[in-house]
Amino acid sequence: KILIVDFGSQVTQLIARRVREDGVYCEIVPFNKAEAAFDEMKPKAVILSGGPESVHEAGSPRAPQAIFDSGVPVMGICYGQMTMAAQLGGEVEGGHHREFGRADVEVKAKSKLFEDVWTLGGKNQVWMSHGDRITKMPPGFSVAGTSPNAPFAIIQDETRKYYGLMFHPEVVHTPDGAKLIRNFVRKIAGLTGDWTMRAFREEEIAKIRQQVGKGKVICGLSGGVDSAVAAVLIHEAIGDQLTCVFVDHGLLRLDEAKTVVDLFRHHYNIPLVHVDASKQFLGELEGVTDPETKRKTIGRLFIEVFEQEAKKIGGADFLAQGTLYPDVIESVSFTGGPSVTIKSHHNVGGLPERMNMKLVEPLRELFKDEVRKLGRELGLPEIFVGRHPFPGPGLAIRCPGDITRDKLDILRKADAVYIDQIRKHGLYDEIWQAFAVLLPVKTVGVMGDGRTYDYVVGLRAVTSTDGMTADFYQFDMKFLGETATRIINEVKGVNRVVYDVTSKPPGTIEWE
Ligand code: XMP
Repeated sequence: KILIVDFGSQVTQLIARRVREDGVYCEIVPFNKAEAAFDEMKPKAVILSGGPESVHEAGSPRAPQAIFDSGVPVMGICYGQMTMAAQLGGEVEGGHHREFGRADVEVKAKSKLFEDVWTLGGKNQVWMSHGDRITKMPPGFSVAGTSPNAPFAIIQDETRKYYGLMFHPEVVHTPDGAKLIRNFVRKIAGLTGDWTMRAFREEEIAKIRQQVGKGKVICGLSGGVDSAVAAVLIHEAIGDQLTCVFVDHGLLRLDEAKTVVDLFRHHYNIPLVHVDASKQFLGELEGVTDPETKRKTIGRLFIEVFEQEAKKIGGADFLAQGTLYPDVIESVSFTGGPSVTIKSHHNVGGLPERMNMKLVEPLRELFKDEVRKLGRELGLPEIFVGRHPFPGPGLAIRCPGDITRDKLDILRKADAVYIDQIRKHGLYDEIWQAFAVLLPVKTVGVMGDGRTYDYVVGLRAVTSTDGMTADFYQFDMKFLGETATRIINEVKGVNRVVYDVTSKPPGTIEWE
């Protein structure tokens, strides 16, 4: 196990990703809880993350002394390097303008960190980040790499296995960064990559059995990957003590409800209650045009319907959720204050408090791509596991203005044609998320000899790694032209197609 101490860098999660990709389990803990976590976890190595502060500011965070006293290998990245240097008796100068960007690091000494990756005297691209600067190394350390602006770009004490990097090895802009992290994990900390999804599956099954005992569990399915993987795993652990509830709000994609029901009932034989609540949802959404009101209405109804069903099933002690690691990690925030609500997200979030049930969350330790791997391990079909994310409020937020069954039908068909095109051209896995939007606008067109007056469909496709930022996908024009023609020919009610070329920010991925 590796412990990652978080000093608030935007990219701390990526360190964890890299370590886990090497098959080694790790956890991220905020610096102010690191001491307790270190005692409890007894990690074989520690990584200190970057962070926005200067070690010169009064009260700026430090790594627990216990880590240095214990003798485990430590790698400090950016702020982590600075605090390590300061804590071990070096000198750090603050007050520099923060600098980010590409730089070349020249290798000045042999190091286990570079083994089979970088050679002595070689120059290698890295993604730098400095505000503070080391002016005197701590005793025992020597320089392993320099850059034009950073004479102490990489420092090391190979005897004690301490390494300090002034750049981010975890980001893709440091092309060899993953290999450096791997060397730290494997060669320096001596860990073997035996943390696989198969092992995780076995461990988790044992944990679920222990937690649940003879109790009854209900699990809300959304049609998405996370809840599906959670349900299949729990079913493997406790069989028919699990009941799944699938609330169909009538805002799902073409054939989606059928796919979910087939998969769970027929393929996996998991008891599934399929609640067709579309009348209720669409009824209450009638005439609602404000995006936040739509979201809140759907969120409230979802909880009401789910609760009713749970009562009917009766006697459940546990509620299962597909919560993922990024939702669980406490992020270190230095700015404090509440952030503005851009969109109120709807998941099953509010359920547990209201229902007074204990939670079963077998995916709490996983990232999205790991959930996909686990899904494959559990035999979920690829088409399901590799699916683009889909928002809880469904098509309601892809249909600006008021929502009607007719509009939803048009949108479903257009979306299906669009996705079919993307799959046929082999682009699906390159795109993070793609979907159609039905605009509340009609325009004039001509088809055959006649005039048409029909809806406009907007197409959206983005690349992203986490949905926080995104770029619009650069289709070629021929693809877009062909897709527009197919949609207009195959979907009655549409006579015009436009492509959204907005990135996030300033746009969001969804239109509402
Ligand atoms: P935005 O539109 O905010 O979306 O750029 C970022 C990502 O979040 C998804 N999304 C949601 N997911 N419940 C969800 O589970 C929601 O209410 C919700 N709203 C947006 C969106 O599809 C994108 O992947």
